[in-house]
Amino acid sequence: MQYRTIHVDASRSYDIHIGKGLLTDVARLIRPLVGECRLAVITDSNVNALHGERLMQVLENDGYNVVKYVIPAGEASKCAENLLAFLNFLALEQITRSDAVIAFGGGVVGDLGGLSASLFLRGVKYIQVPTTLLAAVDSSVGGKTAIDIPAGKNLVGSFYQPVMVCCDTELMDTLPAEIYRDGCAEVIKYGMILDGELYKVLHEIPFDRESVVARCVEIKRDVVQQDEFDNGVRGLLNFGHTFGHAIEKLSNFAVSHGEAVAKGMVIASRIAPLCGMCDVADELSALLVEYGFDITCGYNADEIYNALLADKKRRGGTIAVVLPRAIGECILVNMPLDDLNVLLKKVLS
Ligand SMILES: NC(=O)c1ccc[n+]([C@@H]2O[C@H](COP(=O)([O-])OP(=O)(O)OC[C@H]3O[C@@H](n4cnc5c(N)ncnc54)[C@H](O)[C@@H]3O)[C@@H](O)[C@H]2O)c1
Repeated sequence: MQYRTIHVDASRSYDIHIGKGLLTDVARLIRPLVGECRLAVITDSNVNALHGERLMQVLENDGYNVVKYVIPAGEASKCAENLLAFLNFLALEQITRSDAVIAFGGGVVGDLGGLSASLFLRGVKYIQVPTTLLAAVDSSVGGKTAIDIPAGKNLVGSFYQPVMVCCDTELMDTLPAEIYRDGCAEVIKYGMILDGELYKVLHEIPFDRESVVARCVEIKRDVVQQDEFDNGVRGLLNFGHTFGHAIEKLSNFAVSHGEAVAKGMVIASRIAPLCGMCDVADELSALLVEYGFDITCGYNADEIYNALLADKKRRGGTIAVVLPRAIGECILVNMPLDDLNVLLKKVLS
């Protein structure tokens, strides 16, 4: 089978394989990495119903002894209760340090599965098999794992790299349109922050999934290799996210992540020219609208500002925001909160 391989050199080096129909090859691809072992698959109820049987067959036909753990679909499953329940499942199934976990699903399963793998027996190998566009281009790459706690999203987690990522782009054919579109916001983000050529390609809708996923993964790989532990350039990946998270929170998560990021990217692009950078807001807005995003903010400047005060990226009196200098070039700006308050009033009046 033809597929692309992107190598990541982080604290653990690993390959990300991307191809249409690649699920059929997953057992063959993992064997050199995990050898003869038992595999614990974690997945969610939707992915299990659509593709679970096929993954089990592929693994079992290759001689693996596989156990499966299914969580309910949705963000609410990325919680401490499920983390503990899955760790307990691994223990009861007598998974050992020579065995491996496979996270088969979107970002929820990937984050929970990855965190579990990093904690169980102080670390067992894990493989990411992303099934959403967002997971393929973002959450399965770079080794961030997390769960949500009542105080906030992703507040408990670890940096823990998988031993392999196996991305079958065909699995995304079954995604509901709005979930696929959420992933498109992240894809557009990659074009905006680091690759004007990719951005141009995205005007062709639908884009060629395999090559676009591969390019996004390369971009994220390059960023992660420079700053695995998120102390600098990795912050660029937050383009649109600082404002997006504020919008998600204000809407009580009624606005989806992708739509919130789309709105957030537009706010950042409107702020940029007020800071002496070029004005790409109309161009970006037009592309986002073509993808079907509602880019109106829906909240006033005070509401956004107050929601931002609780952001993880705030440091005392400043907050890191990512602003576009051009299509394909963004920069990280550590902005005094008072200045941001004034700018928000100008762009959201
Ligand atoms: N670790 C990271 O670096 C990182 C980066 C970005 C986002 N995230 C996390 O990722 C999560 C969001 O990921 P997501 O958007 O993939 O959400 P998700 O995992 O909840 O998946 C979205 C929905 O799609 C369904 N689904 C998944 N694959 C499917 C398929 N092939 N066909 C049909 N339905 C399918 C799921 O059951 C779910 O209902 C958030 O928790 C976010 O915090 C993590």
